[in-house]
Amino acid sequence: MTRRSVLTGSGSALPRRALGNEELAKMVDTSDEWIVERTGIRNRYIAAPDETTVTLATVAAKRAIEAAGIDAKTIDLIILATATPDQTFPASATLVQHELGCNGGIAFDVAAVCSGFLYALGIADSMLRTGMANRALVIGAETFSRILDWEDRATCVLFGDGAGAVVLEAREEDSVQPRGILATRLHADGAHNHLLFVDGGPSTTGTVGKLRMRGKEVFRHAVTNLADVLVEVLGDAGLAIEDIDWVVPHQANARILDATARKLGLAPERVIVTVDQHANTSAASVPLALDTAIRDGRIKVGDLVMLEAMGGGFTWGASLLRM
Ligand code: UT7
Repeated sequence: MTRRSVLTGSGSALPRRALGNEELAKMVDTSDEWIVERTGIRNRYIAAPDETTVTLATVAAKRAIEAAGIDAKTIDLIILATATPDQTFPASATLVQHELGCNGGIAFDVAAVCSGFLYALGIADSMLRTGMANRALVIGAETFSRILDWEDRATCVLFGDGAGAVVLEAREEDSVQPRGILATRLHADGAHNHLLFVDGGPSTTGTVGKLRMRGKEVFRHAVTNLADVLVEVLGDAGLAIEDIDWVVPHQANARILDATARKLGLAPERVIVTVDQHANTSAASVPLALDTAIRDGRIKVGDLVMLEAMGGGFTWGASLLRM
């Protein structure tokens, strides 16, 4: 028997307001045609002033807890991946913890932008397997609409707000067909931080700043890095691409998903795609897509699922789990 981190519930949350491409085209010089052709995005959700990273994270967390069928008070670890916390400090995870009423355990935020959920999952898995915690809530939540330059059409059409969460429980699993996280690889390369960044911060400008991106270069790195890290994780698990039931990628651009799948020889029907509905929700995108596919019945207990993401830093990573 081996102690493993088993995913026992998922949940997600979106702001009330949907913003379609046609409506967006009345705000900036763009078109539905350009956005769909270049990105596959048709819609995104935008948080109202009373909807924040913490409120969205809390709703997603409550849904994940309900799906797992556990008492929130038994959660002893919360890791919240976000680049858009409610406040510079305290960590938004501590605010979510208080909302859930599970005070006293470990709670902190992780900043790895779009790869944040993969980083959070990897850390939670390590902490669960070493016995530092027994029941973890791993959340990705963002309100990127607050850090977009709404006059920059090259970036503002790409992102949206939302949250996704999973419950991970430490369980003794047999070694033949164990459920849980089987392998994870995380990477960062700070040489590229000028390609995708926010032009402000508490220690420099004293402001929050706005997102800046050199999209073409990010695109090129994303396809290579994601294909490479998937192959690494498969190697660690001793599995081949044909063994995977589902890939749940970071939802940045449908063309990145297609190009990565082609590079790996992965059948497109095994890739979960929600970028058309949610746009790029950064750290929320993987758990939001995962929850969508669990709730619509595609991803089932026993399936082998690969999660992957790449974002600012650059940071990137992938994680393989049996549901
Ligand atoms: O989550 C982190 C990871 N992020 C990503 O993975 C994003 C990766 N990058 C991308 O998804 C793509 O590079 C973009 C969608 C951002 C851009 O697509 P592209 O095919 O690389 O387009 P481009 O930046 O080369 O722009 C092509 C043209 C330009 O016009 P000219 O110079 O050819 O006349 C842009 O000015 O499209 C123009 N353009 C737009 N036109 C209408 C840029 N944004 C828009 C827009 N509407 N919103």
